[in-house]
Amino acid sequence: MREFFSNSEKETEIIAEKVAKDFSNCGVVAFRGGMGMGKTAFIRGLVRGLNNSSFVSSPTFAIVNDYGGKPHVFHFDMYRVNTWDDLYSTGFFDYMDNGSLLLIEWSENIEEALPEETVYIEIEKGEAENQRIIRIYGKDFSLEGIRN
Ligand SMILES: Nc1ncnc2c1ncn2[C@@H]1O[C@H](COP(=O)(O)OP(=O)(O)OP(=O)(O)O)[C@@H](O)[C@H]1O
Ligand SMILES: [Mg+2]
Repeated sequence: MREFFSNSEKETEIIAEKVAKDFSNCGVVAFRGGMGMGKTAFIRGLVRGLNNSSFVSSPTFAIVNDYGGKPHVFHFDMYRVNTWDDLYSTGFFDYMDNGSLLLIEWSENIEEALPEETVYIEIEKGEAENQRIIRIYGKDFSLEGIRN
């Protein structure tokens, strides 16, 4: 598990940008944490850190944004996905296993569909209003003591 502390949206983006390369071969990256925790902010930094200049925005209505690049990045928002039928209609399973990097907000809603090798990024609120604790765990992220 890797743990980071952020005190602003900008800091969250910078943390994500710094660790981005480690996600190149991750496949599915599932975000956990409630509304306004900074998932989209983290993804903005992550995409930038992969040298991908796409504009990152919340795909709440589109469900999936395609940012292209290498690795090919898809940004999902599962906020409105509540059933297996919903999930199939997003095309989620068609995006898996072809070397793409799938970044998934509101992964809590599709927990049972996530592959075993999923990497999780959990963001929770710290003591101060703008503080966030960011924890990354799963495949290849078992190293301890790496902090910003
Ligand atoms: N340390 C921080 N890191 C990230 N965002 C922060 C932080 N402190 C305050 N914020 C604020 O929290 C909000 C995070 O918004 P963002 O869209 O990234 O969250 P989200 O988790 O994607 O939300 P949603 O569940 O609605 O998709 C922004 O308004 C941002 O300014
Ligand atoms: Mg979001």
